[in-house]
Amino acid sequence: MAIQLIVKQNYQEISDAAFAVVRRIVTDNPRAVLGLATGSSPIGLYQNMIADHRRNGTSYAQVTTVNLDEYIGLGAQDDQSYVYFMHDNLFNHIDVKEENVHLPNGMAQDTAAECARYTALLAQLRQDVQVLGIGANGHIGFNEPGTSFDSTTNIVKLKDKTRLDNARFFQSLDEVPTHAITMGIANVMNAKKILLVANGENKADAVRAMIEGEITTECPASILQKHPDVVVIVDEAAASKLSK
Ligand code: F6R
Repeated sequence: MAIQLIVKQNYQEISDAAFAVVRRIVTDNPRAVLGLATGSSPIGLYQNMIADHRRNGTSYAQVTTVNLDEYIGLGAQDDQSYVYFMHDNLFNHIDVKEENVHLPNGMAQDTAAECARYTALLAQLRQDVQVLGIGANGHIGFNEPGTSFDSTTNIVKLKDKTRLDNARFFQSLDEVPTHAITMGIANVMNAKKILLVANGENKADAVRAMIEGEITTECPASILQKHPDVVVIVDEAAASKLSK
């Protein structure tokens, strides 16, 4: 089935449309499993979830969350870690229970065991929806070009481009970790529904390759064409290289 594409005028509208999808899932099933992402793209969605929780009491008390990825070597105390980001931007402001929040552990001593643990956990916790951003090179999670579509949770060496893109969150490029642990592409594809948000012109090539390009590991997001239920919500700049 084709990817459902929604083009909005600006970031607020993207965030509102994404929130409508998530809210529907949580109100239909208060025990939903939400697959979440970090990065700048979903921040507006999370702000909408927080505002709605405060205003309307939408509850996440029975929701479980599973995050896409984490930097190797960063832990909960580190303000650049994804576990920190998720608490700061969402979990601390809604009523999700800490024991129901899951991320890969970037501080695990035995990274192979941590990958196996997280993949086993995902088998138990199939995402009702997986929220995604997209990298300028088409990555999803930290699955960089060349990653097998069959991959499960794995350790990746970050490409220079991804480290550069993410350097804006750090004091200097040197501080950007070199490795990350990420859900694999097969783990992402196992979600019942996928919700990808992207904004800005620097995502336009990746959005075109994802939606109109051939399905190739050179653009990891292109595999989403094979998923039965994908909603892609973008602004006009991110949609600007689509043929129609
Ligand atoms: C985040 C993640 C990444 C980002 C992507 C886009 O958990 O896995 O794939 O979604 O790098 O990042 P932003 O949204 O910052 O442009």
